[in-house]
Amino acid sequence: MRATFLLLATIGAEACQRERTFKSHSHNLVRRQSSNETFPPELDANEQILVDSFDSTSISTWSYYYTHGAHVAGTNKSMAQWTADKWAEYGFTSRLDEYLVFLNYPVSHSLVLTYPNGSTYTPSLKEAVLAEDETTSYPNSIPTFHGYSFTGNASAEYVYVGRGQQVDYDRLTALGVDLKGKIALAKYGGPFRGLKVKNAQDRGMLGTVIFSDPGDDGNMTEAKGVAAYPDGYARNPTTVQRGSVQFLSTYPGDPTTPGYVSKPGAPRADHGVVTPQIPSLPISWIEAQPLLQALNGYGPSNTSVNRTGWTGAIPGVTYSAGSGSGAALSLSNVMNDTYATIWDAVGIINGTNQDEVVIVGNHRDAWIVGGAADPNSGSAVLIELAKAFAKLTETGWKPARTIVLCSWDAEEYGLVGSTEWMEEYIPWLKNAAVSYLNVDVAVSGPIPDISATPDMHAISKAVMKKIVYPYRNSTNLTMYDVWEQESGEVGVLGSGSDYTAFLHRGIASIDMGAGGGPNDPVYPYHSNYDSYHWMTKFGDPGFITHKSIGQYLTLLLYHMANDAVVPLEPSGYIPEFDTYLTDLNDTVSSSNYTIDLSPLTEAISNFTSSAQEFEALRSQALATNDAALLKVQNHKARDFSRGFTSQGGLPTREFYQHTIFAPGRDTGYAPVTFPGITESITFDKDGELAQEWVGKTADAILVAASILKT
Ligand SMILES: *[C@@H]1O[C@H](CO)[C@@H](O)[C@H](O)[C@H]1NC(C)=O
Ligand SMILES: *[C@@H]1O[C@H](CO)[C@@H](O)[C@H](O)[C@H]1NC(C)=O
Ligand SMILES: *[C@@H]1O[C@H](CO)[C@@H](O)[C@H](O)[C@H]1NC(C)=O
Ligand SMILES: *[C@@H]1O[C@H](CO)[C@@H](O)[C@H](O)[C@H]1NC(C)=O
Ligand SMILES: *[C@@H]1O[C@H](CO)[C@@H](O)[C@H](O)[C@H]1NC(C)=O
Ligand SMILES: *[C@@H]1O[C@H](CO)[C@@H](O)[C@H](O)[C@H]1NC(C)=O
Ligand SMILES: *[C@@H]1O[C@H](CO)[C@@H](O)[C@H](O)[C@H]1NC(C)=O
Ligand SMILES: *[C@@H]1O[C@H](CO)[C@@H](O)[C@H](O)[C@H]1NC(C)=O
Ligand SMILES: *[C@@H]1O[C@H](CO)[C@@H](O)[C@H](O)[C@H]1NC(C)=O
Ligand SMILES: *[C@@H]1O[C@H](CO)[C@@H](O)[C@H](O)[C@H]1NC(C)=O
Ligand SMILES: *[C@@H]1O[C@H](CO)[C@@H](O)[C@H](O)[C@H]1NC(C)=O
Ligand SMILES: *[C@@H]1O[C@H](CO)[C@@H](O)[C@H](O)[C@H]1NC(C)=O
Ligand SMILES: [Zn+2]
Repeated sequence: MRATFLLLATIGAEACQRERTFKSHSHNLVRRQSSNETFPPELDANEQILVDSFDSTSISTWSYYYTHGAHVAGTNKSMAQWTADKWAEYGFTSRLDEYLVFLNYPVSHSLVLTYPNGSTYTPSLKEAVLAEDETTSYPNSIPTFHGYSFTGNASAEYVYVGRGQQVDYDRLTALGVDLKGKIALAKYGGPFRGLKVKNAQDRGMLGTVIFSDPGDDGNMTEAKGVAAYPDGYARNPTTVQRGSVQFLSTYPGDPTTPGYVSKPGAPRADHGVVTPQIPSLPISWIEAQPLLQALNGYGPSNTSVNRTGWTGAIPGVTYSAGSGSGAALSLSNVMNDTYATIWDAVGIINGTNQDEVVIVGNHRDAWIVGGAADPNSGSAVLIELAKAFAKLTETGWKPARTIVLCSWDAEEYGLVGSTEWMEEYIPWLKNAAVSYLNVDVAVSGPIPDISATPDMHAISKAVMKKIVYPYRNSTNLTMYDVWEQESGEVGVLGSGSDYTAFLHRGIASIDMGAGGGPNDPVYPYHSNYDSYHWMTKFGDPGFITHKSIGQYLTLLLYHMANDAVVPLEPSGYIPEFDTYLTDLNDTVSSSNYTIDLSPLTEAISNFTSSAQEFEALRSQALATNDAALLKVQNHKARDFSRGFTSQGGLPTREFYQHTIFAPGRDTGYAPVTFPGITESITFDKDGELAQEWVGKTADAILVAASILKT
């Protein structure tokens, strides 16, 4: 799902994993004067073989295949088999791993607005069919709907609730707006969409309608003179964002099997804990416009509400809360709740050391027939990656570590395929996994973007310097040059894609891709327009960014799987801890709690010395060519981050075990650092619990430190 990051710090980001600010608005970058590295980058023979194998034309062929058939979760086994067969053709031992999971599919829906005078407006809830974009007219194209949404009807007055975070609803309540018994009209952006529905449900509301808003598109709007897709960069006004409404921040995976694998015959829990009990529908901005206009002038105005991201840019709309308008909605949502088989394709090349495993994953399922960016830009890249390793294998090369490729199903519903797979193989993964490399949306624009655990920061940057990156009209740039000038920050992992299950069992992880900036075409996330046509005309003409991102992932995998020294740096946590600690200290200072952070600072200083000793010993092993010591150190690098996990999980959510970062409980995508401590303060408002979590977090850090030592 990896939502995109159009990032406009000033106007807030579209449903984003993390908000990002651009350092540069220049379309023409130059190679940094300070760079003393040669261009093109010098590669060793194996790296050269891998990189040279990449071909934009074949990536385009794989993309075409994936984007010309329906592949909603659990519906296209032949696509899973095709993926496994391709990997097999390139030398990977391949198979399909099946799970029987709870899913639901759209049957019918409707929405009617009734004005106070009794006249009505009935939105079509459909996206326009475009002659230029052939897959928009496919007979099996997927209706607009929310995955895991509730079957039901709701008829009531409705209220505009902004982006639907808890603070938005609370603000309305504080202003005297009665929410109970009403329908929520929420804007996309900010928190994960399922949380918008959960927050409405928790306040006794009867249903939720969620609309896209051109306010999230910055200057790329028709109102500012930009032509809409298929003619130009702006969003087609009928674009609808599908997506899951699972309560992602409670737990991902099959909602009926929390913490264990979904095999036939497995006991089934009540899915209602993490799926809504009120119906919801997504809608385009053009069809939301009359709904919002009917609220103009009623209830608290946008300025009196005064909430982040509240006011959008739909013409003729004042973004009033709308209480007392007398206008009402009648919505109906019918889903087919069922257990369906899903297929994860798995491809393996055994390494010499089978107790060291590197996993690369991408999801395959999409909400639409297309999915050219999400997720099949990543799927196309993974086929090309397998092909590159076949070229290398022809030279007699064999990896030091085992390589596992995974093509996940049902990511879109709630990271289902990857979570069930982790739950099936957890004993093996806990022992052997060195790292998990995720690529979901490999490309939705030209700007590289990575997030990773701190032990992967160094290798993730080093490999960027090896990749030639054609960027707009600039020449002679590496991926690092572009990244460094446009972003320059490795993000913190929250959630919203398949790294989540691995990260929360203490496995070093990275998520990567390239996205658009404020002057790039608006990425039609989860809509019919995320198509092959959009990709070839706007997203990545010539598949040149696909090629660079694919080369990056390939060299990163090559080094993770092959370097004598496992390229994980525990000391990467040291500066990050410093930053997280400053943030936590600010959180504590601005609360009313007295919390003693000294156990945490002591644990961090203990970790710091362990990490430094570890790295000294590792250098010594390398310098003295001490293979036995090197193996011990490699295993410590592999294992130490398991220490950061807390067995019982974070408060109220057993699944999320990582004590250093987690998705926010009311954000879903965006990360919170030291989540046990931070959210005890900001969310539970419980100082004692926060103090308890200072202890638990410190203990976890000490366990990580002790693994590095022993
Ligand atoms: C580039 O410069 C850095 C810092 O001055 C130095 O550490 C590095 O060795 C240089 N690299 C090359 C290839 O000359
Ligand atoms: C599965 O996907 C392939 C490739 O896009 C497509 O050709 C095929 O029609 C799809 N199958 C179904 C049942 O939709
Ligand atoms: C009812 O109200 C709506 C919205 O104000 C308006 O567009 C419509 O023309 C009205 N219909 C009648 C019959 O007055
Ligand atoms: C939008 O355009 C205005 C006027 O040209 C400019 O000042 C502003 O920075 C632009 N916004 C973005 C996000 O590029
Ligand atoms: C809006 O809220 C911000 C803080 O959230 C506050 O600083 C500002 O004064 C408020 N503005 C109005 C008009 O209330
Ligand atoms: C619901 O899905 C099942 C298969 O999972 C299918 O057999 C059944 O016909 C579907 N029902 C409806 C109403 O679509
Ligand atoms: C890879 O290793 C596994 C576990 O040792 C073994 O079962 C499998 O047969 C091996 N595969 C190949 C292709 O050698
Ligand atoms: C490249 O330069 C041409 C000519 O100046 C310009 O029209 C085009 O928009 C530029 N392309 C990009 C991606 O910046
Ligand atoms: C790009 O690199 C090539 C080869 O190193 C060099 O000949 C050329 O002058 C460079 N072009 C620019 C614009 O820097
Ligand atoms: C923590 O916050 C307090 C109060 O704002 C400040 O005095 C102290 O220097 C901060 N400590 C750190 C380590 O940032
Ligand atoms: C701290 O306590 C004061 C007084 O009880 C209250 O007004 C304020 O909202 C509290 N601040 C926070 C962040 O809880
Ligand atoms: C920190 O590490 C030292 C050894 O370097 C150990 O003796 C001490 O007990 C550790 N501190 C804690 C709080 O575990
Ligand atoms: Zn995705």
